[in-house]
Parts: sequence; C-alpha cells; structure tokens
Amino acid sequence: RTLHVLNGPNLNLLGEREPSIYGADTLADVEALAARVGDELGFGVECFQSNHEGALVDEIQRIRHDSGGIVINAGAYTHTSVAIRDALASVEAPFVEVHISNVHAREAFRHHSYLSDKAVAVIVGCGVQGYEFALRRLAALAATP
Ligand code: DQA
Repeated sequence: RTLHVLNGPNLNLLGEREPSIYGADTLADVEALAARVGDELGFGVECFQSNHEGALVDEIQRIRHDSGGIVINAGAYTHTSVAIRDALASVEAPFVEVHISNVHAREAFRHHSYLSDKAVAVIVGCGVQGYEFALRRLAALAATP
C-alpha cells in the first residue's frame, strides 16, 4: 500500500524560510527522504504540497480510499482549518501530524491544533526527521493486525 506525505502552505519554501526555525533541508530533500524510507519499509510514498486549503482537501478526498496512512504537516492550517480536519476524518487510514518546529515553544496561537485529537500520533520539534518517524510509525501500524 501507499503512504502519503502531505505538506501545507509555505512548506514549499523549506530551506529558505526562517532556517533558524525550520532548518536547511528543502521540500525536495524531505520528499527524497520520504521515498528512501518508504523503499526501506516496502511502501510506495506519494508526496503532495499545496499553499491552498481547498487543494489539500481535494487531495485528501482523492486518496481517501487507497491510502495506507497519511503524514501531514498542514503548516498554518493546522491552527485554523476545520475543513482539513473534516477531510482527514473521512479517511479510514490513520494519519500522523508532523511539525518540524516545536510549536509548543512558540506563539500561543500555534499551541492549538484542529488535527491532534484525531491523529494517531503527533510529532513536533524533531526537524525534518519527524517525517521519517511518522512513516516508520505508520508502517508499523499497517503491519499490526
Ligand atoms: C509548522 C508549524 C506551523 O505553526 C507553521 O505555521 C508552519 C510550519 C512546522 O512544521 O513547524 O508553517 O507546521
């Protein structure tokens, strides 16, 4: 089965934007890491990034029936989007919420997530390695009957 890695707004600027917070790796680096980890785990990995809330909702709906698990960094939509929450709730497969930075050490408005209580796991503050941890967790869950 295929695992999906979804990235939200501004994550296309990874490596350029606020590198002291988000590090030097680019989105292409993250997607290459995801493909490598997927290979190792025996899963295909499909990646998608959009700056648009509706495009993320459309993508979640599109993969709803054939995803083995979703890794999602919804960026700022994490803190605002009931629509992305509802879209994820329509997916049978579990999702892991990832944040590169430790959102709890930042502004108060980043402390609340519309996704966390529906996520099977939440990984914050591990840098881009968080995507790898999330994929490994989803693969382990997929292997558990
Ligand atoms: C982020 C944290 C969000 O608060 C922020 O809006 C982002 C990135 C992270 O990966 O740390 O765009 O999701």
